Amino acid sequence: MQYGARFAAIQRKKDPLILGIESSCDETSAAVIRGRVLLSNVILSSAAEQAKYGGVVPEIASRAHTDAIDAAVYGALEQAKIRKEELDAVAVTYGAGLLGALLVGLSFAKSFAYALDIPLIAVDHIRGHMAAAYLADPALEPPFITLLASGGHTAILYTKSFTEFSILGSTRDDAAGEAFDKAARVLSLPYPGGPNIERLAREGTPNVTFPKMFKGGGYDFSYSGLKTAVINYCHTREQKGEAYSRADVAASFQCAACDVLVERAVAACKEYGCKVVAAGGGVVANGYLREQLLSACAQNGIRAVLPEKKFCTDNAAMIAAEGLIRYAAGDFADLSVNACAHIPLGKKGKQ
Ligand code: KG4
Ligand code: ZN
Repeated sequence: MQYGARFAAIQRKKDPLILGIESSCDETSAAVIRGRVLLSNVILSSAAEQAKYGGVVPEIASRAHTDAIDAAVYGALEQAKIRKEELDAVAVTYGAGLLGALLVGLSFAKSFAYALDIPLIAVDHIRGHMAAAYLADPALEPPFITLLASGGHTAILYTKSFTEFSILGSTRDDAAGEAFDKAARVLSLPYPGGPNIERLAREGTPNVTFPKMFKGGGYDFSYSGLKTAVINYCHTREQKGEAYSRADVAASFQCAACDVLVERAVAACKEYGCKVVAAGGGVVANGYLREQLLSACAQNGIRAVLPEKKFCTDNAAMIAAEGLIRYAAGDFADLSVNACAHIPLGKKGKQ
């Protein structure tokens, strides 16, 4: 499969119309942007179906994407009030994620790009989460500090330009979202764990002291100790037949998991002389984290750019946003590009 004459003659526009497609996990999503302005975003989720099994079943996710992809893409075009022939590029998540799920979105995007003879842009899902902030504040310009907290990654980054960043610190074991999901299981909360912990935490008081995360590791994180502490706290009480408040445990866990993200993001801004922190990833949908980050930033004269909650969890708008960066750089994919289950965020230091 090869690009044709229209692609060969492409003149890159300043504010291109980009279709974004996301299908890495249990959300089938499509969005259209014009430059940094969002025109539409459709999210069709199989989360309710997955909840019956306590987590994402890859085969169910792939089938759900197959059923939903048409409606998501044509729904996004309709909402944006544009015809597919007007598109300048298609940006799609090629990894990381569930292989079968990724292939649905990627194959669809390839056919679209081929048929319209416009560039295909292969987007790393996690770079998409980082790019959600570019739409949240279309005036946002580097340098700034990025706080990334998702189901698979937790990191503090120095974003020097839209294509260059340095990892100042990342998690040494579990990601923040993973810790939320594991703590939710211990508390017998259904999938998805993060939002359910947040809901339960609202009924509790953060009066259980969990061990503080290590200091001295720079901007690194470690969530496995916190997860073990939650497991030990609950199991010890259950074995002794002692009552405890699940809501208090949820509230205490939430504080312990989020406070350290806020502290390190603010510390990085101070050390690197940045006045802006941009956040992204599913955990940034957490109301407590958002409040704490906004208030700590305000106290320190820092502006926090937080995408709306629906743009923190998986969505295609963020994929289109990262697509825009790659479009501007002329970073187009070959139509033979394959899906990729794992993509490392990169080593510490400059990318
Ligand atoms: O960023 P994301 O889509 O995952 C990856 O791309 O890796 O986010 C999913 C993660 C899950 O671990 C989920 O529990 C967590 O984000 N999450 C939350 C909330 N909403 C989603 N964690 C805490 N509070 C929330 N409200
Ligand atoms: Zn994600």
